[in-house]
Amino acid sequence: MEPQERHQDTKIRPADAATVAKAAELLRQGQLVAFPTETVYGLGADATNGAAVASIFAAKGRPQFNPLIVHVKDLETARSLGAFSSKALKLAAAFWPGPLTLVVNRHPQSAISHLVSAGLDTLALRVPDHPVARALLEASKLAIAAPSANRSGRVSSTRAEHVAQDLAGSVALILDGGPTAHGLESTVVDVTGDQVLMLRPGAVPLETLEAVVGEKIGRGAPVSSAPHSPGQLESHYAPVASLRLDVTAPGKGEALLAFGPDVPPASGPVINLSPRGDLIEAAANLFAALRALDQTGVSSIAVMPIPANGLGDAINDRLRRAAAPRP
Ligand code: TXA
Ligand code: MG
Repeated sequence: MEPQERHQDTKIRPADAATVAKAAELLRQGQLVAFPTETVYGLGADATNGAAVASIFAAKGRPQFNPLIVHVKDLETARSLGAFSSKALKLAAAFWPGPLTLVVNRHPQSAISHLVSAGLDTLALRVPDHPVARALLEASKLAIAAPSANRSGRVSSTRAEHVAQDLAGSVALILDGGPTAHGLESTVVDVTGDQVLMLRPGAVPLETLEAVVGEKIGRGAPVSSAPHSPGQLESHYAPVASLRLDVTAPGKGEALLAFGPDVPPASGPVINLSPRGDLIEAAANLFAALRALDQTGVSSIAVMPIPANGLGDAINDRLRRAAAPRP
């Protein structure tokens, strides 16, 4: 059977204890599971499993790696992954569990895949308030990376059938918890600095947030997938070293970000994104590999050509951004 046929819309299951346990098992195996939250349905993967996270982007058909929200069971788990300022704690106390996403600085040692946050030093975290989402977080003991469960460019799914229409071919199981309560995504707020910034309006209104933090909340530039413009670059991961793309022969002492089995001779450090030329594996390794090469202190990183099909498109998009001259 073709993968496309394997999971037809028969993948929808009422979310009872047994199917939630099954879904947790599938997540632990690196598969994708769609689940209801109080906002919209999420397309979930184990946030520590880079290949599983990469398959989210493949399933959504996203041409870019937009950073994803990580769903956790409680504030304590959230604090084990990122740093909470006093304002962040105030907001979490007031709105969690609930439809508010907090962007915090990630702890450097956090096991969350770098692909989740598209290589940024921040993490978007949320404790959902839906019995099925909470049961899944409890049963799996995982942090679950989940964008809205729709194909790229379509509206978010507020019913299990919508998820099936968009993603039946690529998801292992769709937990049906009925229509979602808000039908609107969570509000995303940046609490990494002193000033709280709203990055995406959503189910919690701005005034409600302002009442809790006791000050005006500014508007931050959302991390957008649009082609970069000056001033937007800092919202994308950029290595210190300069990047040369589509290189078939690296220079002397230059680092090499390789792809596939045919690697040219190199005198500098080499990391292969996927020796077998697998784009999902390459996506999973991309940001961690860039970081690791950058940390060797080289001044230039040569990148081998990456095919443009499948996730290659998104990989090349991110590499082009990382290679762009900085203002
Ligand atoms: O209600 C929701 O938020 C749903 C449910 C499933 O939780 N999820 C959702 O995810 O809408 P998604 O991937 O469609 O939107 C995530 C938003 C995007 O606007 C993204 O740019 C922002 O969160 N985001 C994620 N990580 C970020 C980060 N590290 N810094 C800034 N923005 C981030
Ligand atoms: Mg979305």
